[in-house]
Amino acid sequence: MPTRRATERRKRSVESKFTNLYYDDPSTWRATYWFGVHTAKCPLDLWIFQEIISETRPDLIVEAGTHKGGSAHFLASICDILGNGEVVTIDVIEQPDRPQHPRVTYLRGSSTDPEVAAQVRRRAEAVERVMVILDSDHSEAHVFDELCQFGPLVTPGCYLIVEDTIVNGNPVLPDFGPGPAEAVDRYLAQEPSLFVVDRSREKFHLTFNSGGYLRKIG
Ligand SMILES: C[S@@+](CC[C@H](N)C(=O)[O-])C[C@H]1O[C@@H](n2cnc3c(N)ncnc32)[C@H](O)[C@@H]1O
Repeated sequence: MPTRRATERRKRSVESKFTNLYYDDPSTWRATYWFGVHTAKCPLDLWIFQEIISETRPDLIVEAGTHKGGSAHFLASICDILGNGEVVTIDVIEQPDRPQHPRVTYLRGSSTDPEVAAQVRRRAEAVERVMVILDSDHSEAHVFDELCQFGPLVTPGCYLIVEDTIVNGNPVLPDFGPGPAEAVDRYLAQEPSLFVVDRSREKFHLTFNSGGYLRKIG
């Protein structure tokens, strides 16, 4: 009978191999659509977003990294079903044909630009519950700056989701260099009492956001 440690090791190995297979295959997240709009996500993470949003009922969801607008449209659809919530999504590039939705506001600029930050802060100060999703430039330096800027806006009980923590060999793209996972480590070391890493959100064994589901505690 295998020991618990051996079983755990085998599980981690299967997860790692499947994550690499899923990430590298061009027919998975590169070809995922929400009502016809490309959404660069693993659907199991989108399902977790839905569970988090329905549990925590954010009034405002801030997304850094719009791309085609598929994820913003997905978030707005969940808000529609719940009858609550607005989405503010930020990108340096304005892609053509982004979906228009009454709950979605598109902001153009860098997510760490002080002017963009001020606009988001004003929106956040006007509501009770704020959630943030970071999915823009995945370099450690940029994600760390985003964490410092947006972390304080997240309200207690709500989530700050750091996307694509799996790059830099965690376990995909080993040559990426320091990225979101390293930024999370640095931020949590600097702010140890603001967030907890909620590993229960990784229950499906496949996630692009391993260690990136952060729940605000204080
Ligand atoms: C991974 S894509 C976002 C995917 C989108 N959230 C989705 O799930 O479909 C990353 C986006 O971040 C944008 N980006 C890169 N650097 C940025 C920055 N400094 N501020 C805001 N957006 C940035 C890119 O233009 C790109 O559209």
